[in-house]
Amino acid sequence: MHRFFPFLLLLLTACCGQPAVDATNIEKEKLMPTIGEEKFGQTPEGLATLYTLLNDKGNTVKITDFGGIITSIVVDGIEVVIGFDDMESYLEPNPYYGALIGRYGNRIANARFNIDGESYSLAANNGDNNLHGGIKGFDKHLWQAKTAFNDQSVSLTLSRLSPDGEEGFPGNLTVSCRYEWTNDNELKLTYQATTDKTTIVNLTNHTYFNLAGEGTILDHKVTIKADRFTPVNENMVPTGEEAPVVGTPFDFREAKSVGQDIKKDNAQLAIPNGYDHNFVLNSYDGSLREFATVTAGGRTMRCFTTEPGVQLWTSNFKPGLFPGRDGSPLPVHGALCLETQHFPDAPNQPNFKTPLLKPGETYRTETVYRFE
Ligand code: GLA
Repeated sequence: MHRFFPFLLLLLTACCGQPAVDATNIEKEKLMPTIGEEKFGQTPEGLATLYTLLNDKGNTVKITDFGGIITSIVVDGIEVVIGFDDMESYLEPNPYYGALIGRYGNRIANARFNIDGESYSLAANNGDNNLHGGIKGFDKHLWQAKTAFNDQSVSLTLSRLSPDGEEGFPGNLTVSCRYEWTNDNELKLTYQATTDKTTIVNLTNHTYFNLAGEGTILDHKVTIKADRFTPVNENMVPTGEEAPVVGTPFDFREAKSVGQDIKKDNAQLAIPNGYDHNFVLNSYDGSLREFATVTAGGRTMRCFTTEPGVQLWTSNFKPGLFPGRDGSPLPVHGALCLETQHFPDAPNQPNFKTPLLKPGETYRTETVYRFE
């Protein structure tokens, strides 16, 4: 294994159409962090590429430049995320599997907000709300890719220009997400953006984790370092309140299984048929700190972020509404997402901090998922 591997792979891909070397089949003792790339398939914006990030433990993360989608994370031979092995499947309706979400993650009520007295109207794609950036959010665009590696890690940086007015958002936004996969099995996501007009930005990743690699996540043990959460109304828009988790099914301060309270008689759980709520993470000061752990199937994922909130989404869809990896129906609660974020609908909520970005400033956030 050596540093020319990516170039060899490219050459072979160019000559034969398919990579002749499978990045996952390389002898473990010779591994160096490296990155392979192969054609993934056609998208409305052109040909998508699939990148395989391999660390020296032989564990892989696969990401496509279409929507910045993480299609696969394999740790110790177990696939721990929901995704597809072919591009075509991502063009069918799916609930943001693995996707890079923007310009504003989660909901903006009535698809409207104001900046400095100026009113902006967004694409409504969730009843009257704007959800995850709108009809054609960041998850449905082809991004420009750049790869890099060193002895400790391998990385893919995706970038694009989101033009002024895209889905109704003001300002030309130059945006990037760097995916770094380290030899310590850490997936580090670093988001950056700049604008030429004051705008709002709330970037996240929508990976559906199932650490057991099968079944549901009801037995997954979760901790979330949050004393409060933000209750929602019947349209899934925050009421503006920050409610204490103590004595409620939303108390994840000590590890408990997702299934322990999910069926409890609780007005908040009843609205989305499970968890689909923003947690107010403790000790927010913009620095990177641990906010959650998930344990199942003998492995633990530790989560770190610079963000003030996280959406716990337990994939509450009716069984079979969406396909899982092998095309078989995704069971209800077949996976969970931990979407780090500023709070939903913050631009319309006087109590919540709005992630406003002005010309001359740089938006920068970081989230890390570490597999142990
Ligand atoms: C987020 C939302 C959910 C749902 C999923 C994607 O987690 O909060 O309500 O829309 O995305 O389907």
